Amino acid sequence: MGKVYVFDHPLIQHKLTYIRDVSTGTKEFRELTDEVATLMAFEITRDLQLEEVTINTPVGPAQSSVIAGKKLGIVPILRAGLGMVEGILDLIPTAKVGHVGLYRDPETFQPVEYYVKLPKDIEERDLIVVDPMLATGGSAVEAINSLKTRGARNIKLMCLIAAPEGVAQVQQDHPDVDIYLAALDEKLNEKGYIVPGLGDAGDRLFGTK
Ligand code: PRP
Ligand code: URA
Repeated sequence: MGKVYVFDHPLIQHKLTYIRDVSTGTKEFRELTDEVATLMAFEITRDLQLEEVTINTPVGPAQSSVIAGKKLGIVPILRAGLGMVEGILDLIPTAKVGHVGLYRDPETFQPVEYYVKLPKDIEERDLIVVDPMLATGGSAVEAINSLKTRGARNIKLMCLIAAPEGVAQVQQDHPDVDIYLAALDEKLNEKGYIVPGLGDAGDRLFGTK
């Protein structure tokens, strides 16, 4: 079963509080989401492999470490996942970005796929699927299905906030996928929203309703 990591770094928790706050406007919501994505990317890349290289410092030769040429990919689930991409690219500027477009039917909560565009060498890349919200888990499960169908093998899922129901669904359907969160909330309400959550992530990011 996939592991679940909740990043309790004080900066992440502090910024998440303002992301949740209903009085936070679109501009600030966007900026904070970006910043939290950067901080989460810092934590999630902790296990990147290093290799030794020889360099010359002004004082003389030295053995030092660089990241071993691992190919990374970021896959936002549209729309709201887009809000986390730039923040990750600030740390990993060479990562390729794929897109999976899904929306959740408001009546059935079932994900509906409308767009997929991925890097060609998807099967060679370590992928981070990003979406601010993991609610029922339907969208994340479907996005990961879509990636696996196209050959992806190494996948991590990174979300700001999850409900226990969504975590359980991903663990059941994709036991090979670890989940990285800023918060694990209490439950879903009858409309499928995470409680207390942050409301509709896409609408808050893009100023729609
Ligand atoms: C939201 C969110 C997730 C999904 C989570 O997207 O960004 O993709 O809901 O819900 P689930 O876990 O129950 O599937 P939404 O469908 O609102 O689309 P949007 O990003 O285009 O606003
Ligand atoms: N999608 C959102 O944007 N927010 C939720 O709380 C659940 C699904």
